Amino acid sequence: MALCIPVLSLLLLCSFFRRALSDRVEVLLPDVVEVREGGTASITCSFSIPGHSHYSYLHWLYEKNGRTNIYYMGQDRQFAYDTEYKDRIRMADNFTLLISEVTLQDERTFLCQIGAGPAGFGENRTELRVYKSPEPPDITVNDVGILVTDDETPEIAKCKSRNGYPTPNITWYKNRNSLHQGRDGVNIATTVIKESSGLYTVSSTLHSRLSKEDRNASFYCEVNYRLPGMDRMMESERVNVTILYPMESVTLVVESPSRLVMEGDRVVLRCKGDGNPPPAYTFLRVQEDPVDGAEMEEEIEASDGLLILESVRRNESVHYRCRALDFNSGVSLQADTMLSVNYLDAIQMWPESPVELSLGDNATIHCSAMGSRTLAFHWQWKGEVIALGPLLNLSSVDFKSSGHYSCVATVPGVPGLNASKGVTIVVKGPPLVSVKHHSLWVLVNDVINVTCEAFGHPAPEITWSVNGSVLHKRETHQVSSELSVQVTQELLRSGVMCYARNSLGSSEELIRLQEVTVTTHPTANNTVGPIQKERKREESKGVLIVAIIVCILAIAVLGAVLYFLYKKGKIPCGHSGKQDITKPGTQPEDIVVEMKSDKAPEETELLPGPTGEKPLPGDQGEKYIDLRN
Ligand SMILES: *[C@@H]1O[C@H](CO)[C@@H](O)[C@H](O)[C@H]1NC(C)=O
Ligand SMILES: *[C@@H]1O[C@H](CO)[C@@H](O)[C@H](O)[C@H]1NC(C)=O
Ligand SMILES: *[C@@H]1O[C@H](CO)[C@@H](O)[C@H](O)[C@H]1NC(C)=O
Ligand SMILES: *[C@@H]1O[C@H](CO)[C@@H](O)[C@H](O)[C@H]1NC(C)=O
Ligand SMILES: *[C@@H]1O[C@H](CO)[C@@H](O)[C@H](O)[C@H]1NC(C)=O
Ligand SMILES: *[C@@H]1O[C@H](CO)[C@@H](O)[C@H](O)[C@H]1NC(C)=O
Ligand SMILES: *[C@@H]1O[C@H](CO)[C@@H](O)[C@H](O)[C@H]1NC(C)=O
Ligand SMILES: *[C@@H]1O[C@H](CO)[C@@H](O)[C@H](O)[C@H]1NC(C)=O
Ligand SMILES: *[C@@H]1O[C@H](CO)[C@@H](O)[C@H](O)[C@H]1NC(C)=O
Ligand SMILES: *[C@@H]1O[C@H](CO)[C@@H](O)[C@H](O)[C@H]1NC(C)=O
Repeated sequence: MALCIPVLSLLLLCSFFRRALSDRVEVLLPDVVEVREGGTASITCSFSIPGHSHYSYLHWLYEKNGRTNIYYMGQDRQFAYDTEYKDRIRMADNFTLLISEVTLQDERTFLCQIGAGPAGFGENRTELRVYKSPEPPDITVNDVGILVTDDETPEIAKCKSRNGYPTPNITWYKNRNSLHQGRDGVNIATTVIKESSGLYTVSSTLHSRLSKEDRNASFYCEVNYRLPGMDRMMESERVNVTILYPMESVTLVVESPSRLVMEGDRVVLRCKGDGNPPPAYTFLRVQEDPVDGAEMEEEIEASDGLLILESVRRNESVHYRCRALDFNSGVSLQADTMLSVNYLDAIQMWPESPVELSLGDNATIHCSAMGSRTLAFHWQWKGEVIALGPLLNLSSVDFKSSGHYSCVATVPGVPGLNASKGVTIVVKGPPLVSVKHHSLWVLVNDVINVTCEAFGHPAPEITWSVNGSVLHKRETHQVSSELSVQVTQELLRSGVMCYARNSLGSSEELIRLQEVTVTTHPTANNTVGPIQKERKREESKGVLIVAIIVCILAIAVLGAVLYFLYKKGKIPCGHSGKQDITKPGTQPEDIVVEMKSDKAPEETELLPGPTGEKPLPGDQGEKYIDLRN
């Protein structure tokens, strides 16, 4: 018994090892080998043999209506059987079978068989799959146009992909979304043709119900196929379908101008029906019969849904109608629009230009115009807006109110539509006379110039009380006259009178003349005293020199006094004080001037010199408004 246990144990162990180390020859082959047509297929065969046995032979076969040997390898020799594979196969050292220039017919099952003498033999199989990519898909679209009302599903497009292996699949897309048979009215018919080459050509026809919303849809097909180790696809180009749908509405709009229409505009009316193909358009002008109020239609020439009205007038402000006829569906629709042509008539004004007013009058000028809308008015004078509204109120007019005024009418909301009319206002009145100086210091026998100005309308005529040479000047509302006259004793007494006269009246001004007293200073042998009425010009040279020195001294003293007064503010800066004391130009430097007058000093003026009178601040002439400004 004790001996039995080790024996039994050995037997059990032996049987265990026999089972673990399979007693069969095991051959390992890939289930599937994929290869492109024309490529080389390699089928690897590996095996294990139980015990220490060596393989005695390796056999490659294929299965088709039974088995065919194609390659043999024994211990001492190896060869290819005389089959179609004879020239295309070889075997690598690692027992891999290589089949070159694979054809579609090679798609079959290959077997590797290993014989190992007493260990028996084993085999395994591989399916060889051959692939060929098809040509890119070719799409043709139904170019007749698809009517969306059709009940049946119309043909949209055809797609064809040639010469693939195995059979490729075709998928349809609408706007990047794939279409599926039976869904949304989609019907896809596929036909597969096996070419004589054994390759497959797949054709697919897409039928689908479409709606108006598909008018911008694009369609394409995609071919799916497999190559060794990967799935591939190719897309066709995109196609548009022509979708025909009936018109459902029509619109008529003023396309241009984009602002309110006014007379003279080029107006474009556009009519648009929403059907495809576009309907035929007819434009009509709609007016009411003046007799019975019935609608009257008048056809207008237009093309392609565009009505162009060149330079519209106000009588074109009527209803326009567009009628659109869809030939496919027989539907006729119409749309109306009212065209409002804005206008502005010429301005009416009263009283009419020129308007004559009297000095101090109050007046209102009325301006009015007819327009398509409420108008806005304003008045302009000298380029500035002086009043808003249609009325121009003038109160207490004076001569400077005369001039050219204009009334401007605008149409709010319609820029560019405006009108204007001018009115000339003339303010009439008797003359107003002004003289620069009411009083003048003069020397007898001097020729003096005096000036007189007159305002008035009609233009006044100026005359003088004395004869002399006269120079007239005429400006818009103003006449001036300059008189050159020699001073006589008689003139000193009477003064110079200026008369201004027009058809409405007259007025006058007196210019008083006062004699200047000329004094020389008491120096050397010169006598002191006033010189009146005569000029003494025979002074000796010595006297003259002394007089000059005295004069310089006097001027220096005078200058100091003036400077002192100026500093104390007694003499306003800019006042022409120097002129006041300058001697007449004809006089030599040895004369100091004194004024002899019984008048208040501010009322008198020294004749300034031969260059004429200079305007002085506070001049009395300013009591009249200067109309030249
Ligand atoms: C054939 O080989 C595969 C591995 O390629 C293996 O899984 C299978 O068991 C083998 N079949 C036979 C009958 O040996
Ligand atoms: C066997 O040999 C061939 C060619 O020599 C090589 O392409 C292949 O990869 C080898 N296979 C294995 C499993 O080693
Ligand atoms: C298709 O329509 C789109 C616009 O809807 C256009 O851009 C495209 O050019 C069209 N394609 C063809 C081939 O007519
Ligand atoms: C073709 O379509 C069938 C069924 O839809 C699918 O089983 C097959 O894998 C497809 N082939 C390719 C190459 O995509
Ligand atoms: C508008 O009036 C002008 C004349 O002022 C006339 O010639 C034209 O025919 C009229 N147009 C319409 C549409 O009545
Ligand atoms: C003009 O109107 C003013 C008040 O604005 C009035 O005082 C004056 O008398 C009027 N003048 C005339 C001439 O009517
Ligand atoms: C102008 O005068 C009229 C009366 O004469 C008055 O009704 C109107 O308001 C005045 N207009 C202006 C702008 O003063
Ligand atoms: C209307 O007014 C504008 C400026 O406001 C001007 O440019 C245009 O010439 C005017 N048109 C007419 C017809 O007066
Ligand atoms: C002016 O001269 C004319 C002659 O030319 C004479 O008749 C008239 O009396 C003179 N008038 C004065 C005011 O001297
Ligand atoms: C008076 O005016 C005349 C011409 O305008 C001129 O020649 C003359 O010199 C002036 N006389 C005086 C004293 O200003």
